[in-house]
Amino acid sequence: VIVDDPTRWSPVALRMDDGTQIRVRPIVPSDKPLLADGMRHLSPESRYRRFFTSIETLSPALLVRLTEIDYADHFAWLVVIDDEGCERAIAVGRYIRLPDDPTCAEVAITVRDDYQGRGLGTMLLQLLGRVALEHGITSFTAVVLPENSPMRALLQDEGITLHFDPDAGALRGTGPIAIDTRTSDLTAQFVAQLDR
Ligand SMILES: CC(C)(COP(=O)(O)OP(=O)(O)OC[C@H]1O[C@@H](n2cnc3c(N)ncnc32)[C@H](O)[C@@H]1OP(=O)(O)O)[C@@H](O)C(=O)NCCC(=O)NCCS
Repeated sequence: VIVDDPTRWSPVALRMDDGTQIRVRPIVPSDKPLLADGMRHLSPESRYRRFFTSIETLSPALLVRLTEIDYADHFAWLVVIDDEGCERAIAVGRYIRLPDDPTCAEVAITVRDDYQGRGLGTMLLQLLGRVALEHGITSFTAVVLPENSPMRALLQDEGITLHFDPDAGALRGTGPIAIDTRTSDLTAQFVAQLDR
């Protein structure tokens, strides 16, 4: 059941530091082929870091779960580029509210390997924070493999501290969402377009 309206956010066009033009918009059910294609452009290491298994492709059932969302308890931003008139997904950031703590949501971010290290992950976490706060979610939690230094760094930069979680067999980071103190250049561009 859709709770919030994804068309509230029209696609926002942004320019990365190296000039790459991207668009950021909520994921929609018709994005299943884009997600499946994005998965094909992800290294085995990135897939493992995101899904904690050596998954190669997204099953039809998983594609449904990842694209048919309610935009309140479960929200996902998609970053796309234009490839000769075709959209291609290069990054996804999502949060899912925890059933046993409605003020907290688990976040997961994936950036295609060839676009990593350029600020997309940071922007996605910050943009997720903005939507989450509107829905009464005040903190984020994430499970991260110990060897995943980019994600550890990203979370720590956003004020999220990490501890070993024996239940998850990995690190868990939990921390409050503070959108006013954290705004990367890309996030600032996004916010400026919204206010226009
Ligand atoms: C983790 C991930 C989402 C980060 O996204 P990203 O767009 O590369 O991240 P950013 O460019 O915003 O960088 C965030 C921080 O990560 C760190 N970082 C980036 N690339 C790094 C690398 N190759 N090695 C170590 N640290 C790195 C930097 O410290 C950076 O902080 P800085 O701005 O202070 O330098 C991305 O690497 C990814 O998709 N990995 C595979 C899937 C995954 O691990 N998802 C997380 C599971 S919850």
